[in-house]
Amino acid sequence: MTGASRGIGAAVARRLAASGARVALLARGKETLRALAQQIGGGAVGLACDVRDTDTLTRALDQLPALIGGPPEIVVNNAGAFFITPVQDTSIEAFSATLEVNLTAPFAVVRALLPSMRLAGTGHIVNIGSIADRATFLGNGAYAASKYGLRALHEVLRAELRGSGIRASLVSPGPVDTDLWNPIDPDRQPGFTPRAQMLDPDAVADAVLFVVCARPDLNVDELRVSRS
Ligand SMILES: NC(=O)c1ccc[n+]([C@@H]2O[C@H](COP(=O)([O-])OP(=O)(O)OC[C@H]3O[C@@H](n4cnc5c(N)ncnc54)[C@H](OP(=O)(O)O)[C@@H]3O)[C@@H](O)[C@H]2O)c1
Repeated sequence: MTGASRGIGAAVARRLAASGARVALLARGKETLRALAQQIGGGAVGLACDVRDTDTLTRALDQLPALIGGPPEIVVNNAGAFFITPVQDTSIEAFSATLEVNLTAPFAVVRALLPSMRLAGTGHIVNIGSIADRATFLGNGAYAASKYGLRALHEVLRAELRGSGIRASLVSPGPVDTDLWNPIDPDRQPGFTPRAQMLDPDAVADAVLFVVCARPDLNVDELRVSRS
């Protein structure tokens, strides 16, 4: 579970653990992960790592089977970076960093874990997309590029995994009330969804649980969720 330290990732981790999964939590803050793992219980472990550092990420993932007792049954690519800036004002560094977190890291995670999952002939890869993987919004150049790209990667992966026993799902939420919005302060910005009208992270966790708990012969290819 990447991006497990807060927001949607922490909610999904709690939900999976409550359903009996042993959860490996990946994000940058070692202490936050340690505290969360303790709170979640059920043998949850923390793996502190910056997903932009793909060498360290791959090494951390190599330890995973030993830590959780085998290849992962559910992989959730959730870590995400977001900002709103018009294309002409976006630095190349900020653009690249967004792609590294939102697109290259999920690719690196899948690349590292898929061989053992293929050997096991089972498992489920869940990619957390966004409303912005199909819709465009002003100032969303880097984020949309990364999320449209993630959807493309997911669709190719889904095709490559058909019949392998490994499922792949894209869960794409509309606005969710998490810290991701703090720098933007949507309640004070015209044209943004007020926080009170956003999805609750626990609702997204329910959506993830829904796709992973589907009967084994059913693959939810893409699930788009928004506030009712
Ligand atoms: N909130 C929304 O409205 C919304 C809507 C649709 C889709 N999403 C997607 O949902 C996912 C989770 O978003 P959220 O709203 O829960 O965001 P959030 O509250 O800002 O949490 C982001 C998570 O990603 C981790 N992360 C970010 N950069 C990282 C890095 N370089 N290395 C390792 N971990 C990193 C953070 O951990 P540390 O900072 O502790 O490392 C944190 O756990 C993202 O993919 C986002 O694009 C969000």
